Amino acid sequence: MFKKTILCIGAGYVGGPTMAVIAKHCPEYKVVVVDINPRRIAQWQSDNLPIYEPGLDEVVYIARDRNLFFSTDVDSHIASSDIIFVSVNTPTKTFGQGAGRAADLQHWEKTARQILRNSSSGKIVVEKSTLPVRTAAAMERILNSNDKGIHFEVLSNPEFLAEGSAIKDLEQPDRILIGARNTESGKKALEEIIEIYAHWTPKEKIITSNVWSSELSKLVANAFLAQRVSSINTISALCEKTNADIEEVSRAIGMDSRIGPKFLKAGVGFGGSCFKKDILNLAYIAESYGLTEVSRYWEQVVEINSYQQERFVRIIVTSMFNTVAEKKIALFGFAFKADTGDTRESPAISIAKSLMNERAILSIYDPKASEGIAFELADYAGRFTVEEDPYSAAQGAHAIIVATDWTEFGSYDYQSIYETMEKPAFIFDGRNILDHHKLFKIGFSVHRIGRPPMSRLG
Ligand code: UDX
Ligand code: ADP
Repeated sequence: MFKKTILCIGAGYVGGPTMAVIAKHCPEYKVVVVDINPRRIAQWQSDNLPIYEPGLDEVVYIARDRNLFFSTDVDSHIASSDIIFVSVNTPTKTFGQGAGRAADLQHWEKTARQILRNSSSGKIVVEKSTLPVRTAAAMERILNSNDKGIHFEVLSNPEFLAEGSAIKDLEQPDRILIGARNTESGKKALEEIIEIYAHWTPKEKIITSNVWSSELSKLVANAFLAQRVSSINTISALCEKTNADIEEVSRAIGMDSRIGPKFLKAGVGFGGSCFKKDILNLAYIAESYGLTEVSRYWEQVVEINSYQQERFVRIIVTSMFNTVAEKKIALFGFAFKADTGDTRESPAISIAKSLMNERAILSIYDPKASEGIAFELADYAGRFTVEEDPYSAAQGAHAIIVATDWTEFGSYDYQSIYETMEKPAFIFDGRNILDHHKLFKIGFSVHRIGRPPMSRLG
């Protein structure tokens, strides 16, 4: 017999790992994760989990079929649960008012109505996905406008995990944030959620706030992180013009304890499902309150991110004698960052498309993201290949472009790779992760972000 049943609606990058860690630490709770996508659920039930995340398999194998279950039967599990975490995706709206900027909340509203339809007792509903401020209030109105005489308490508990380090972030969070109403039932629900996390998180790291602050904090945390990336990327452009070295600048400013060393790595820009979406959302919310200047300020963070990618492509084309038409180019990395197979909003997408628009022929290698490559570049079929290993990707290529910071990219035998390439051979290291001096010695012309190029061509 379990003490309580926790349900999570949405078995994605957030819902899956989060529930696995909760189940691992709370064996007295039954944890069920449901999703409308039967393939995803089947993968969660198999030895081939739907997402790649270091350490995830071990956690899932400890808890699965003990107190962690995966199912497609959303309705019946809503009925039998006490606490429901909602972790469905909230993409940016593609139509109507706020298209391209506001969050598309249709999945959310449907989920709220589905919860209501299938409940005969009151429940705690927890927002896990990142949502615009006041979504919890809207959800509460839908849920509590019922004639069943039951009460729902809606809380906000944003997830701050980053992909590639999800398990570490969940096991040792910087903080757990829970937003609740300051009412009797709100406080009671808050205690129930605190109790879950207190199984493995020190009490002082569990902080509480009102619901709106919690929702807003999540958007703001992502906006601040993305802003640091855009800020350092603007400086990388300046470094390239002035012969300063971005790595030296990052190091120097990062040692100021008020600035700190993290998120100061210049590169081809940020990707991932959160940053762009959340900033545009924040900007949209600000604008809808008439705060145009605030909105413009944050939009710039996204604009600089696109600029950085366009700039990188311009450098590639210009360096390669102003044409890449019909040249084979190897793209190392397609995931939006290392240690994940996720390609959503990856800078590699726009880089690949721009180069293919210039008629380059791409051979793409990524250790974990092969599936995403074909999906993201479906409109460009015939202009690229997905390779099983980096050596065949680079064979006969004029250039190698590094778009993701996978550690393994630094460990290849670049001497052998160089010998199989067309000459002059170029490397464009969009993540500044390779040993540039060694590559230059081998014979490559090496282009880096925020540092002068090491060119053999004068
Ligand atoms: C982010 C937040 O970090 C996390 O707290 C939130 O829950 C979800 O969004 P995620 O998108 O998974 O996580 O990865 P993150 O490590 O933040 O990286 C985002 C992007 O920024 C990546 O494309 C990464 O390569 C890039 N980045 C990050 C840089 O270019 N430079 C840096 O210094 C750091
Ligand atoms: P995130 O990165 O926020 O976790 P994902 O896209 O990885 O986002 O996961 C969201 C999951 O939610 C997907 O697997 C999707 O199938 C699921 N989902 C979306 N809408 C519903 C719904 N109404 N009921 C159940 N699952 C849903």
